[in-house]
Amino acid sequence: MKKLTMEDLVNYCKQYGFIFQGSEIYNGLANSWDFGPLGTLLKENLRNAWKQKFVQENKYNYGLDAAIIMNPKVWVASGHVASFADPLIDCKKCKSRHRADKLIEDFTNGEVTADGWSNEEIEKYIAEHNIVCPVCGKMDYTPIRKFNLLFETSIGVTDDTKNTVYLRGETAQGIFTNFKNVERSMRAKVPFGICQTGKAFRNEITPGNFIFRTREFEQMELEFFCKPGTDLEWFGYWKNYCMDFLRTLGLDSEKLRMRDHAKEELAFYSKATTDIEYLFPMGWGELWGIADRTDYDLSVHQEHSGEDLRYLDPETNEKYLPYVIEPSVGLDRLLLAILANSYQVEEIGENDTREVLKINPALAPVKVNILPLVKKIHGEKATEIYSELCKKFSCSYDESGSIGKRYRRADAIGTPFCITIDDETINNNTVTVRNRDTMEQEVVNINDLEDYIVKAVTL
Ligand code: GAP
Repeated sequence: MKKLTMEDLVNYCKQYGFIFQGSEIYNGLANSWDFGPLGTLLKENLRNAWKQKFVQENKYNYGLDAAIIMNPKVWVASGHVASFADPLIDCKKCKSRHRADKLIEDFTNGEVTADGWSNEEIEKYIAEHNIVCPVCGKMDYTPIRKFNLLFETSIGVTDDTKNTVYLRGETAQGIFTNFKNVERSMRAKVPFGICQTGKAFRNEITPGNFIFRTREFEQMELEFFCKPGTDLEWFGYWKNYCMDFLRTLGLDSEKLRMRDHAKEELAFYSKATTDIEYLFPMGWGELWGIADRTDYDLSVHQEHSGEDLRYLDPETNEKYLPYVIEPSVGLDRLLLAILANSYQVEEIGENDTREVLKINPALAPVKVNILPLVKKIHGEKATEIYSELCKKFSCSYDESGSIGKRYRRADAIGTPFCITIDDETINNNTVTVRNRDTMEQEVVNINDLEDYIVKAVTL
């Protein structure tokens, strides 16, 4: 089978309505992407799968939907205003711009990461290893400058610095600032977690690789509050929980790996951090970051807000700031992994291939494709069945072309079931259900159809 490239994926996504270039009729805006009808459905299914696993099925966790624009003091307290920055370096010869830490990462095929290094350490490594400009091949760089990733805007009618606010750079801060609200209102006992999904914004220096790194993306974050001393145990629990979830979604185990951050790579407040990486078409890349953040976040917000954010343990009467375990994953990046993992051009017999998205049926944008065998004869019955099934599942209706062609169109977008309505449906109340993966057909009574599909598309 031919190795899938990112270009193949971009073309596939455009052709079938998953993802389009943003502002395309104006020649686009670099690295901005719009989710089309199928991309929207897939994104929603993934978000719901995460919510189901992390909120609904987990007895410790609650949901939250905090504001995107927060009091700017939040971002001062969290350290983002002072140090949420990437090391920017320019090539003096060809004027191309790079993230200096990425130059090292790419040069070493991800073996060395410069997270947490000073500018001087990065410059020294680049010089000592003769890491040339990937665009022109020369070795003539400017000194590194720090470039803050927060997007600034202002509220109110006057545009002065007093009104400066930020588009959130991560969803996590809305969770920390609501720690006490959730604890009180839900009478939550530590350990407990708060989950949030939503857009985050970063003025990335080097966005790219399709939707892998963009300036506007959606995160799905959990901040899990636990008693200091129990944190490493919970860190292990959440690492396994996340890995388990990815496998349930259908990502191949051999394309997943955990990378523990070395001591010198850890943020100063972090006791342990692990990235779950996926083998994307362009190579291994971070999919999910899981960090033991100690009590750093609650302590800085306590200090800056003046509010007591400590937890009173009702059993021991002890007051303490909980430690936080944070599993944080990008929804767009997960969607990219799912598409890359599922898309295939499959050989089906001599000189014949089919495009098929072998996606977990629970995530498939369209669950059922309804096909009247002959439009004039079976159209009415097919419409009737469509009207019933679409109340429960996302369905499509296809009456044009041969059945074989209609199957292929459904396979290409990952629809798990094609249901053919024919004379048997009218005479015997049965339909023919064709399975996307096995391509086998089964006769099912209409009365059993809903249960049949529910079973197959439930995670
Ligand atoms: N609150 C912690 C945090 O935001 P992060 O490692 O910066 O940590 C977490 O981001 C996850 O968000 C990443 O593992 C990745 O999946 C996703 N992500 C981060 N930056 C992104 C970007 N520019 N484009 C798309 N996804 C991104």
